[in-house]
Amino acid sequence: MKQKAVLAFSGGLDTSVVIKYLQEKHNMDVITVTVDVGEGSDQKKIAAKAKKLGVLRHYNIDAKLEFVQKFIHPAIKANALYQKKYCLATALARPLIAQKVVDIAKKEKVDALAHGCTGKGNDQVRFDITLRSGSNLPIIAPIRDLNLDRTTELAFAERHGISIDSVSKKFSIDQNLWGRAIEGGHLEDPYSEPPDDAFIWVKTKNLPDKPRYLEIEFENGVPVAVDKKRMNPIKLIEYTNKVAGDYGVGIIDHIEDRVVGIKSREVYETPAALCIIEAHADLEKMVHTKHETKFKEMVDSEWAFLAYSGLWQDPLKRDLDKFIDESQKTVTGTVRLKLYKGAFRVVGRKSKYSLYSHDIATYGKGSAFDQRKATGFVELWGLQTTEANKLLNKR
Ligand code: ARG
Repeated sequence: MKQKAVLAFSGGLDTSVVIKYLQEKHNMDVITVTVDVGEGSDQKKIAAKAKKLGVLRHYNIDAKLEFVQKFIHPAIKANALYQKKYCLATALARPLIAQKVVDIAKKEKVDALAHGCTGKGNDQVRFDITLRSGSNLPIIAPIRDLNLDRTTELAFAERHGISIDSVSKKFSIDQNLWGRAIEGGHLEDPYSEPPDDAFIWVKTKNLPDKPRYLEIEFENGVPVAVDKKRMNPIKLIEYTNKVAGDYGVGIIDHIEDRVVGIKSREVYETPAALCIIEAHADLEKMVHTKHETKFKEMVDSEWAFLAYSGLWQDPLKRDLDKFIDESQKTVTGTVRLKLYKGAFRVVGRKSKYSLYSHDIATYGKGSAFDQRKATGFVELWGLQTTEANKLLNKR
C-alpha cells in the first residue's frame, strides 16, 4: 500500500507544486487540507484544483470564527504589531492551519505531514513547531528540502499543467481576514515604491474628498460594534477593512527581521488591523494607570515577538495571555477615528472605566488639583538627578 501524507493546501504555487512532488518523488498519496481563514478565495475552486492534481481526498475546513476568536482577538488585546508595524496576519493563521493538519493526520492515520513553506521564511518555523507540538510524524517540506526557487517552481508548474494566476506570477501573496501580505518581484528592491496594482484592499487613487469617522466600541478589549452597529466578529473585521480601505488607510511598507536572520522588505494591506489596534491602544491608555501602560507595552512587544517567531505554543505566551486577559477587564468603551485620504487618527474616546478626570486635568477655574502641592513633589522626584548634577558641576 502507498504511504499517505497530509498537506496544508492553499491552492497557490508552492503547495500545488508540493502535491506533484509528493506523488512523483515520494510516491505518496496526498490528502489536502484547506483551512479557510478568510482568504476570500473560492474554496470550491481550491477543492477542484486539488482533485485535478490527483489527491486522494480533500478537506475544506471553515475556521474563520475560530481564527477571529482564538487568534485575532488575543492579538488585539496585545496591540500586536511586530517591530511596531506588522499586524501578524500570516503569523497568526499558521498555528491554526497546522493544528488542523494534525487533526486530519490523526483521523486519516497518515505516514507524514507536509507543507509548502520555503526554508527562507517564517512560515516553516510556525508550521514545524506547531506540527511537532502535536505529532511525532515526519515532516516533508519539498520546497525547502530541494532548495527550490520561484522561477524553477513556475517552470515545474507549467510542465505539470498546474494553472497559476497572473497575480501569483508577479507577487507572492498571503491573505486572510486580518491582512494581506505582498512579497517578491519588484518589491524586492527596498527603494522602489510598490506599484498600485499590488493593492486590492486599499484604494490608492480617487479617494473621497470628505473625511469619514469610524467609531469602534470595545468590551473587555474586544471590538463588538462599529459605527454603532453590533456585528458578528468576522463581519466586524470585514466591514472595517472595507471602510478604512476605501479611505486609503491600511498600507504598511517596512523592513522586517525574519526569524532565520534575513532582512526582508514587506508590504501589507491591513486596514482593519491598524484601525482597531490604534483604537484599542488608545482606549487602554484611558483606563489603565501609567504603571499598567508602561508594563503592558513590554508584555505586548514580547507577545508579538513570540507570535511572529513561531512560538505560539510556548508556555511564556500562555502566561502573557493570562496577564493580558486580566488587564482587559476595564478595556470597555468607544473610540472615534477620523479617516481622510490615506491617514487616520483617533479624535475621541470614552469609557465608563475612564481614569481621566476633567476636574483634575482642567486648566480652567476650580480644578480639584492643587498646584501648590506640585512644588514639593517635583523637588523630591528630581532629587537624585539634581544632586548628581551639582556634584558634576563641582568637578
Ligand atoms: N513576513 C510575513 C510573515 O512572516 C508575511 C509572509 C507572507 N507570506 C507570503 N507567502 N507572501 O508573517
